[in-house]
Amino acid sequence: MSNKILSIEGLRKHFPVKNVWGTDIALVKALDGVDLEIEEGKTFGIVGESGCGKTTLMRTLLRLVEPTSGSVVLSDEITQNQFLSNNLEELTNEELRSFRRQIGVVFQDPMGALNPRMLIKDIVSEPLVIHGKTENMRDRVIELLNNVGLGEEHLYRYPHEFSGGQRQRIVIARALALEPKILVLDEPTSALDVSVQAQILNLLNDLQEKYNLTYIFISHDLSVIEYMCDRLAVMYLGRVVEEADTEELFTNPQHPYTKALLSATPNFNKDKEKIMILGDVPSPITYLDESKAKLATEITEQERLEIKSIEGKGLDYIVRSSLNEVLPLKEVGPSHYARVK
Ligand SMILES: Nc1ncnc2c1ncn2[C@@H]1O[C@H](COP(=O)(O)OP(=O)(O)OP(=O)(O)O)[C@@H](O)[C@H]1O
Ligand SMILES: [Mg+2]
Repeated sequence: MSNKILSIEGLRKHFPVKNVWGTDIALVKALDGVDLEIEEGKTFGIVGESGCGKTTLMRTLLRLVEPTSGSVVLSDEITQNQFLSNNLEELTNEELRSFRRQIGVVFQDPMGALNPRMLIKDIVSEPLVIHGKTENMRDRVIELLNNVGLGEEHLYRYPHEFSGGQRQRIVIARALALEPKILVLDEPTSALDVSVQAQILNLLNDLQEKYNLTYIFISHDLSVIEYMCDRLAVMYLGRVVEEADTEELFTNPQHPYTKALLSATPNFNKDKEKIMILGDVPSPITYLDESKAKLATEITEQERLEIKSIEGKGLDYIVRSSLNEVLPLKEVGPSHYARVK
């Protein structure tokens, strides 16, 4: 039984949409009530299509954006019993700095994350300088580079002199500079080709074991998720629609969206059932003006009717709008929850 390192409770982030006069006319519900518990030393995966709120979840978790409501509760492992509160939003500026040292971040595009005009030695040491940990810095930077399979010979080179995979190694080295307990990995390998992808994933697994790191791993690639994650949450339009341990979720998916995701990936489509998702990705926008809201439901109804009329084509399908029904998360198996009837 391992411990949870942090929990996310009822997290919401609604971005206002303004008209040209600056009046709020609608809300983008990027996150709409997310609850998660992250276990220490494990990899927690988050999957879901573009725009479902994965990056917003991470940005809110890091307090890079303020949530509309809900909270992030830190374990004593993170606060070291040194903080006045375990609630992220109640931390003092000093405590927030200390919290941020404990979370490293790796984003998708390593080139965008590295300043092209900085030498590798300065890129990797930057967090150390910012946090005043400059003792034996050169040795520490070489140690960090060694950790990710690079070395002293790379200190005086610029990002453009490296391959994509090497650049992602540099990003990982820097993310580990302050000895974080958690790494947030937002699509860390999607910009890399498959063979390099595997090397980076193996490196991450080795580092996790070596430093007992907790990973929060975002990806839309189910093979990567299956390979890396102990547990995962499937997100749809700002909500978690299903959550379970990886093996359980892959063998026994319950929510129609999860089933459709798995059926669309040949490796996971074990019983050859093909489920199509019909319709465009629904907008996460909610209009504040009632007439517009009414129009949206009418369109949805219309969509359902049209779908009914193509029934009997030998395909299973789900209609996007049917996925929008908000059902509570229900326990459907061993620590397995899904929004199903
Ligand atoms: N600062 C912002 N202002 C307004 N809307 C935003 C803002 N940031 C994100 N959104 C909206 O919130 C929704 C969720 O965006 P987010 O970036 O979290 O999605 P994602 O799941 O990370 O997608 P992707 O897989 O493409 O990275 C989107 O509809 C997006 O347009
Ligand atoms: Mg994203």
